[in-house]
Amino acid sequence: MYSEKVMDHFSNPRNVGEIEDADGVGEVGNPVCGDMMAFYIKVRDDKLDQVKFKTFGCVAAIAVSSMVSEMAKGKTLSEAKSITKKAVAASLDGLPKEKMHCSNLGAQALAEAIADYEEKKYRDNIKKCKLIKEVSQ
Ligand code: FES
Repeated sequence: MYSEKVMDHFSNPRNVGEIEDADGVGEVGNPVCGDMMAFYIKVRDDKLDQVKFKTFGCVAAIAVSSMVSEMAKGKTLSEAKSITKKAVAASLDGLPKEKMHCSNLGAQALAEAIADYEEKKYRDNIKKCKLIKEVSQ
């Protein structure tokens, strides 16, 4: 049912864990199957310096999380944002049709973590602009 790559990433998942002072966190879940994923990222020079995850879910969800973390590490934010569920499934040498939503969950969790980082950065920039405005008045 599962490819060797899926079984490898399920048995030896890469980058498992949490980043305490993460720059961005993305949490997603599927209410139908109950699986949940959390992705943590650390960004340096617009690149994903560290990517970690915690997943509660099926074999495919764990393999997908591991693969997404490997695919995303070292990528620029825009490169990482273009990681699709199809690319994740292809990197795992395919997933059974009924497990494709698991690969969607992984790509989504990563995208949420990046969005969280970008939102925080935007808010910080607004704060800095306000400070500059106050100082210059
Ligand atoms: Fe839902 Fe795997 S069965 S994420």
